[in-house]
Amino acid sequence: MPQPALNTTASFQALHAHYAAVKDLSLRELFAAPPSPPASSRFEQFSLKAAGLFLDYAKNNVTSETMAHLFALARERKVETQRQAMFAGAKINTTEHRAVLHTALRAPRLPALDLDGQHISADVHAVLQRIQTFTTALRSGAWLGYNGKPITDIVNIGIGGSDLGPKMVCQALRPYQRADLHLHFVSNVDGDDLDAVLQQVDPQTTLFVIASKTFTTAETMMNAHSARNWFLQNATGAQESDLRKHFVAVSTNVEGVTAFGIDAANMFPFWDWVGGRYSVWSSIGLSVALAVGFDQFSEFLAGAHAMDQHFQSAPLEQNMPVILALLGIWYRNFFDYRSVSIAPYHQDLGNFPSYLQQLEMESNGKRVTLDGRAVDAATCPVIWGNVGTNGQHAYFQLLHQGTDITPVDFIATLTASHHLPGHQAALLANCFAQSEALMRGKHADEVQAEMQAKGMPPEQIAALLPHRTFPGNRPSNTILMEALTPANLGALIALYEHKVFVQGLIWDVNSFDQWGVELGKVLASNILNELTAAPVPQGHDSSTNGLIAMARTALS
Ligand code: F6P
Repeated sequence: MPQPALNTTASFQALHAHYAAVKDLSLRELFAAPPSPPASSRFEQFSLKAAGLFLDYAKNNVTSETMAHLFALARERKVETQRQAMFAGAKINTTEHRAVLHTALRAPRLPALDLDGQHISADVHAVLQRIQTFTTALRSGAWLGYNGKPITDIVNIGIGGSDLGPKMVCQALRPYQRADLHLHFVSNVDGDDLDAVLQQVDPQTTLFVIASKTFTTAETMMNAHSARNWFLQNATGAQESDLRKHFVAVSTNVEGVTAFGIDAANMFPFWDWVGGRYSVWSSIGLSVALAVGFDQFSEFLAGAHAMDQHFQSAPLEQNMPVILALLGIWYRNFFDYRSVSIAPYHQDLGNFPSYLQQLEMESNGKRVTLDGRAVDAATCPVIWGNVGTNGQHAYFQLLHQGTDITPVDFIATLTASHHLPGHQAALLANCFAQSEALMRGKHADEVQAEMQAKGMPPEQIAALLPHRTFPGNRPSNTILMEALTPANLGALIALYEHKVFVQGLIWDVNSFDQWGVELGKVLASNILNELTAAPVPQGHDSSTNGLIAMARTALS
């Protein structure tokens, strides 16, 4: 059943009217207003816990009426029924005619979850069992390289979802890794990426994990072939048959894997109902399991499953992913805020913003509805960010005083995994200070009084006042967890996955395909031929022809 155009829905129109009434209410005013009983503060009213995470959304331009309108929108867009449809394996990825079941990858054995006659829960757990056996063998030293040495380095070769997920999770769980097993990630077709890693590793003690859902992605295939050649050239005395001790594959494409020369016994499968950007829970997580051990990988899955249960069962009003999604809709579609900044106040979450870029922008960077009409509202904002406190000394200037307003998601842990005195308190102080400063700002009368108290002459005060004034009223969420454990990390990722899903339902786009990346791939493959083949191609525009000509000269 196609959804009606978003702008024509009663709840969206009610939100437009409500927006006109509340858009000028500042966050300072909202904090000064009495909370709705029984809450004793705005913080209590607009915060909740789920699956080990705490969300404070009090510093948003919303009233309880705003939230009620947003929940009505979610109901009108059938979030509750669509949520059940996704978990039950309905083929909601309609352009590829696929189910969307990454939640099944982290669920305990489900008695009956059949998809086209396949008992998928049994399949998932059979693969998990293989991952456990393999990771245990490798980490215990039972799996040896071709000349009997234990593996010391693992190189994950993949791109997009086959890289960003495992790379981000391995970094986030750094304290759970062993000092004698080093993880490396190669994604870029730029040979510098692979070369830099190959210079650090010994072929006798290195395992390559070739991670590609399709096993056709050009960048990954080129890197995999180069790694294979490097191994055969540099592993003294190694034969082709020794590759099986040093190359394993993670893929849905058994033919592609075996054609490459990797034994099917060394392939860890997954399925087409797992989207690339939702695949870290599948065998794409093999590098994570190798890095932190299978028990911690299981904890990671369990944390995500806890968030799934919350998302699936909590009423919309107390549902963390739904709330996060609706706040995003409020800012994108009513305030017209065009980007969202992710600010993890945890060094080990350094790759989380790039991970979310793919998750959100590849999922909801769409312009047509499920039935092919132009979307009649703006969709996914630009997602960007970096770790605090580093971002504060780079782009936070724009967040505080720029002409665009960018909502921020602050993410922090209450405790640290290190024992360096003072650092964690300093980190959290900065995190909380930034959200407070964005919310309150520093108004002209406050700045003026401060400068007067310092005895500044009036003309200097007048000159500096506009520069030193902060408008404030800039919204943010704060997500806290006790510590960056595998379970909390799993819950955090699942939180954003479900946020993306809910926003996709509101906008009525397919969050699970990515046709937009195809055109560039096809053109790149054509141009690659033209860079080396005679005669000089002329079929492009003059800019592209000119660039190709320059590269042909350089490469010849
Ligand atoms: O960039 C497009 C994309 O298809 C992503 O969705 C995917 O994660 C990535 O390429 C890698 O694909 P594969 O795992 O098939 O190599």
